[in-house]
Amino acid sequence: MQNNHKLNITIFGTGYVGLVSGACFAEIGHNVTCCDTDYQKISQLQNSIMPIFEDGLEEIVRNNQSLNRLHFTTLDNLDLSVCDLAVIAVGTPNDPQGRTNLSYVNSVVDYLRNHSNQNMTVMVKSTVPLGTCEAIYNRLNREDSQRKIDVISNPEFLREGSAVKDFLNPERIVLGYRHGESKQLLEKLYSQLQHKTRIIYTDCSTSELTKYASNAFLAAKVAFINEMAAICENIGADIKTVSEAMGLDSRIGSKFLNPGPGFGGSCFPKDVQALTSLTSELNVSNALISAIETSNNNWKKAVAKRVVCMMKEGHYKKVAFWGVTYKASTDDVRSSAAIDIINQLLEHNYQISCYDPEGLKKLELIFGDKIRYSGDKYEVASEAELIVVATEWSEFKEVKFKDIKNVTQKVFFDLRNILNLEQIKKEGVTLNRLGYKNIHD
Ligand SMILES: NC(=O)c1ccc[n+]([C@@H]2O[C@H](COP(=O)([O-])OP(=O)(O)OC[C@H]3O[C@@H](n4cnc5c(N)ncnc54)[C@H](O)[C@@H]3O)[C@@H](O)[C@H]2O)c1
Repeated sequence: MQNNHKLNITIFGTGYVGLVSGACFAEIGHNVTCCDTDYQKISQLQNSIMPIFEDGLEEIVRNNQSLNRLHFTTLDNLDLSVCDLAVIAVGTPNDPQGRTNLSYVNSVVDYLRNHSNQNMTVMVKSTVPLGTCEAIYNRLNREDSQRKIDVISNPEFLREGSAVKDFLNPERIVLGYRHGESKQLLEKLYSQLQHKTRIIYTDCSTSELTKYASNAFLAAKVAFINEMAAICENIGADIKTVSEAMGLDSRIGSKFLNPGPGFGGSCFPKDVQALTSLTSELNVSNALISAIETSNNNWKKAVAKRVVCMMKEGHYKKVAFWGVTYKASTDDVRSSAAIDIINQLLEHNYQISCYDPEGLKKLELIFGDKIRYSGDKYEVASEAELIVVATEWSEFKEVKFKDIKNVTQKVFFDLRNILNLEQIKKEGVTLNRLGYKNIHD
C-alpha cells in the first residue's frame, strides 16, 4: 500500500500483539522494525517462520519483508537513529496479588531512555493500568531536559484468531495523547485506516481505562451466561434458546452469550483481576467487577469436577480432549479451561490424550510427557471412554462418528455445544452438554 505519511516505527515485543501490529503497520505502508529479547523468535521471523498461529499473518510478513518494509532484530542490534515512533507491545502479566507487573514495560522504557538521543514519541499498546503513560513520561524525561520523549496510549483490541483482520478493519481505534504534536503523528500513523473506522481521541487515562472496561464487560457477559447455563441444568430449561432470545435484543447483542468451560486466554482473566485490584486501591465500589473472577473460577472448577465425576462414575480410565486452546483459531493455551480440567484429571492418574489442530506444541511445554498428544481426533476418541470437547474448532461441527471405534459405548461431554445434535441422535452417541439437564435431550 502506498502511504504518503510513511513513518519509521520500532516495535518492542513480537508476541501476538507486537508481531501482528508490526506486520499490519508495514502492510499499510510504514517502515517497521520489530525487536524482541527472544533471540530464537527473532531468528525464526528473519526466516519468515511464524512463532504463533494467526490466519493471514505469514502472508503479510513475507510480503512486507520482500518489500523491505518489515525487519526483525534483537535488542542488541537495534538502531534507534531513524525512529519516529517506538511502540511498546510487551507482556503485562499480573503478580500473585493481581496487580499488573510492569517490569517488561519498564525495561523497554529504560532501554529507550538510555539509547535514544533525539526527540521521539513512545506509544503504549500493552494493556497497562491507569496513570502508566504518565509515569512512563516522567521516567523518560526525568534527567534529560534537552531531549523530549512524548508518550501516547493506544490500547489494542485485536482478537487472537482474527488478529490481522481485526487490526486492518478495526471497530474503533482509541488514542490517548498529551500534546497536539503527538496527535498529528497519530493521524499520520492511522491515515490509511481512518476512513474504515471511528478514531476516538482522548486523554491517556481514559484510553487506558477503555481497554480494561471493554475486557471486563465481555468477561462479565461470559460469566453471566455460564450462570444461566447452571440454572438451565437445574430446572431443565434450554440455554441455547435463552441465549438466542436474549441476543435478539439489540441492547444486549448475541455475541459472547454461548455457555462454555469458563473464559481464559492471556487477557480476560488478567485484565479483570487488574481492574479489581485497581478499584480496591482507589477504594471505589467494585462488587460487580470483583464478582466476575469469582464467578469464572467457580464455574471452571465446577466443570473440571464434573469431568472427574463422570470418569469416576463410569469407572473410566482414559479420557480424550478435542481442543485444548482457550478458543478456536489460535494456538494459545494460556489460562485455557482445558488446562484446569487436565490438572484435575492428572491428580486422579487418568490417562489423557489430546487432539488440537494448533495448540499441542504449546500444551506440551506445560505438560511434557504426563499426557499424550495426537494429530488425529478419531484415534484419541477411539482409545478413550470419555471425550471432552473443550474448544469450539469448526471441524467439530461435522464429525464422522463412524470413524471412532465402539462409538456407541463412549460418552461425549461437549463444553461448547458445538457437536451436531441431529447426527449424535442418529448415531446413538451418548452426549452431555453444558446448560441442559438430560443426556439425549
Ligand atoms: N494477546 C492478545 O490477544 C492481546 C490483545 C490485546 C492486548 N493485549 C495486550 O498486549 C500486550 C502483549 O500481549 P501479547 O499477548 O502480545 O504478549 P506475548 O507474551 O505474546 O508477547 C510479548 C513479547 O514481548 C517480548 N519482550 C519482553 N520484554 C521485552 C523487551 N524488553 N524488549 C522487547 N521485547 C520484549 C517477549 O519476549 C514476547 O515475545 C499485553 O499487555 C496484553 O495484555 C494482548
